[in-house]
Amino acid sequence: MKKFKRTLVTTALPYANGPIHIGHLAGVYVPADIYVRYLRLKGDDVLHVGGSDEHGVPITLTARKEGVTPQDIVDKYHKINKDAFEEFGISFDIYSRTSNKIHHETASQFFKNLYEKGVFIEKESEQYYDEEVQQFLADRYITGTCPHCGNDSAYGDQCENCGTSLNSLDLINPKSTISGSTPVKRQTNHWYLPLDKYEPFLQKWILDEHKEWKSNVYGQCKSWLALGLQPRAVSRDLDWGVPVPVDGAKGKVLYVWFDAPIGYISATKELTPDWEKYWKDPESRLIHFIGKDNIVFHCIIFPTMLHAEGSFNLPDNVPANEFLNLENKKISTSKNYAVWLHEYLVDFKDKQDVLRYILTANAPETKDNDFNWKDFQARNNNELVAIFGNFVNRTMVLTHKYFEGKVPIPSKFDNFDNETLDNISTIVKNVEDALEHFKFRDAIKEAMNLARLGNKYLADSEPWKTINNDKEKTATILYVSLQITANLSLLMEPFLPFSANKLRKMLNIETVDWNLCGQKEILKSGHSIEKPQLLFEKIDDNPIKTQIDKLKASKEEEETPTNTINPVKPDISFDDFSKLDIRVGTILSAEKVPKTKKLLKLKIDTGIDQRTVVSGIAEHYDPENIIGKQVTILMNLAPRNIKGIESQGMILCAKDKEDKLLLVQPSEQIIDGAEVN
Ligand code: MF3
Ligand code: ZN
Repeated sequence: MKKFKRTLVTTALPYANGPIHIGHLAGVYVPADIYVRYLRLKGDDVLHVGGSDEHGVPITLTARKEGVTPQDIVDKYHKINKDAFEEFGISFDIYSRTSNKIHHETASQFFKNLYEKGVFIEKESEQYYDEEVQQFLADRYITGTCPHCGNDSAYGDQCENCGTSLNSLDLINPKSTISGSTPVKRQTNHWYLPLDKYEPFLQKWILDEHKEWKSNVYGQCKSWLALGLQPRAVSRDLDWGVPVPVDGAKGKVLYVWFDAPIGYISATKELTPDWEKYWKDPESRLIHFIGKDNIVFHCIIFPTMLHAEGSFNLPDNVPANEFLNLENKKISTSKNYAVWLHEYLVDFKDKQDVLRYILTANAPETKDNDFNWKDFQARNNNELVAIFGNFVNRTMVLTHKYFEGKVPIPSKFDNFDNETLDNISTIVKNVEDALEHFKFRDAIKEAMNLARLGNKYLADSEPWKTINNDKEKTATILYVSLQITANLSLLMEPFLPFSANKLRKMLNIETVDWNLCGQKEILKSGHSIEKPQLLFEKIDDNPIKTQIDKLKASKEEEETPTNTINPVKPDISFDDFSKLDIRVGTILSAEKVPKTKKLLKLKIDTGIDQRTVVSGIAEHYDPENIIGKQVTILMNLAPRNIKGIESQGMILCAKDKEDKLLLVQPSEQIIDGAEVN
């Protein structure tokens, strides 16, 4: 492996459009923080840059919805997220933002460099334009009917009903969500990054030269490249973002995915005058921590931009994670189905390390994974409390009890003691090896093995028994236990920084240096330690139940069909209306259609005939209670076969907010066959 002098770690810039949740943490920020803390502890030259991604259409939509400016939105969430990360112990060297001046300048200059090199192609295309508000409409600002499934509230870029991704020009009946008017097509000019031209470079650089990337990352790149790349527009018609720095580009900004990764460069610049060393010196290593939805941008598009510019390093690795689910359901910001970091920090005060532990032990490294509260509770109680906390506490309590809080002088090592001491460095090696390969789950499991080792060592050597007749043996046992404890206080620092720090304080360890890890004598005999405090405490059922209930509530909220009031349909002529033959009839008999939940088979006296109608009201009316009721029936709807029964017409119903169906009836008794018009 190539030796590097320094490392620049970046973490995906989260959109300042909502708070951080556990999915972000498990996928990106916790692993990155572990890695960075580890390198710092080793004494490596490392920077961790991050910040808020403050551009893009969704932020302008939120602002419009809330009646404030996009800047108000990003100011709000930048603060919430920056504060939450800090309290959670994500150790950024800088947490910057893309709406600031230095970023606008940097992104603008980057575009200019590429522009002047003739990298872009310029192309005209047709796009929807809202004449009322005089602006081009981003896809998300257009709704209309999906040409695939007929859903009448599809967005310009995708239909959420059938999941098809759309081109806004294909929507039927497009409407601007800004003014409600029908947009017109207009020609507009944009700059494109011709990714297709860089395919040979990407093939070689990724597929040949980075076979060591994680298989999920390498695999995704391979399929993108196999499909063939297209030129990508790097500008948009929008008034929020970095203005395109070219004459005649009024009303155009850089596409958010063009400017955002340049945010890593701007943040480094803001942090240190030495920024170029980290970005351009071939002895510097660039590593992007991201979630899997960002792979194409960090492995294909941004590297192409850097390569085309020519003076920057390309990423050495992109250890992207998969997704974390929550109680076996997809986390969703828009549906408020998540565990939000800023809320966790209130609900579980001073328990940052518990969440860090669970998210690492359960990280979605190679496949999607699940977070659930029962597991959170079990791992806290059975692992952090029962193994790590318990071992440390027993060791320190016994040291105070038998040796006045001083590390005793060991004089009686047997094989078991020696083996145990030797095992420490083996475990440390395993942790290092896992960390170097971005295998954080393995790393934390191995680190916990040191606590397991200690726990078992104490249980097997039973110093509370040896003290009765062999003080020298007892001294040796506690000496060994204390060395394990001291190792834990360093080894755990990248993973559980709050507890590791607390433990070092209790042990009076001042030097925080990874190079001490694995040593058999970190604490010298005679060294005093403080009285122990608990590192972790049991979590009982109540707070867990509260969290589960909270999730259930947001799930139910989502599942309650909010039968929205639809807009009025397009006008029809009176002639069209008179084609409908609607009459009053009486229900003569009713029975459930076997093997269905919703259907009733009704016999209706229509005044003209008796006919069979199948109706989807079984969940709302009992058959025996509706016999004799008058209803309205659409007579001339072409007969349809429903579950093997020919349905001749349709009973008219109204639907209320909870999707309950109510029969539409005449306000008083009237003759069967009376026409409705
Ligand atoms: N805001 C993007 C997201 O949340 C990530 C941007 S990463 C960077 O998916 F490259 F733009 F920095
Ligand atoms: Zn659809």
